[in-house]
Amino acid sequence: MRAKSASRSAALQGVLALVLLTAGATALAYTESQANNGRLLYLDHCAACHGRDLRGGPVPAQFSEHAGDHAFALAGPDRLPGLFSAMQVLAYARTAMPQQQPDSLTTEEYLELTAFLVKVNGLAAPNGAPVTTEELTKISVPHPAR
Ligand code: HEC
Repeated sequence: MRAKSASRSAALQGVLALVLLTAGATALAYTESQANNGRLLYLDHCAACHGRDLRGGPVPAQFSEHAGDHAFALAGPDRLPGLFSAMQVLAYARTAMPQQQPDSLTTEEYLELTAFLVKVNGLAAPNGAPVTTEELTKISVPHPAR
C-alpha cells in the first residue's frame, strides 16, 4: 500500500513537471531574428549610455543636459532595478528611451529591443514565434538579490 502510493505520487510529480514545462513554453515568445535585430538597435541607440556590456554607468558628456545621470544596468546582477516584467521593460523603453529622444523608434523596434533584453537576461528562450505584448506580460524580471 505504502509502496503503491509512493509510486503514484512519483507519477503525479512527473505530470506536474510536464505541466510546468508546457506552461513555461507558452511564455517563450520571440524569434532569434527579433533578438538579433534588437542587439543591433541596442548598439546604435542605447549602448552609448548603458554600455556595450549593458552594465550601465554615467551618461556621457555628449548628451549635455542628461550628462552624469546614472543609466541603470540592463543586464547583470543589478539589472532593471525598477522593472518587474518584460512588458514593463517595453513600456518604459518606449516612453522614456533613448533618454534624449523618447519614443523615436518604431513599435517593432521597441519589441526587438525588448526581445534582446529578455534574451541576454535569460528571462525566456526564443520559441520561433514573434513576440507579442500579451506574452511579454507573462515574462517576469526576478530580483533575487533583494
Ligand atoms: C542619453 C543616455 C541614454 C540612452 C541613449 C538610453 N538610455 Fe536608458 N536610461 C538612461 C538613464 C539615465 C536611465 C535611468 C534614469 C531614467 O530612468 O531616466 C535609463 C533607464 C532605462 C531603463 C529603466 C531600467 C529600470 O529598471 O528602471 C530602461 C529599460 C532603459 N533605460 C532602456 C533603454 C533602451 C532600450 C535604450 C535604447 C533605445 C536606452 N535606454 C537608451 C539613459 C539612457
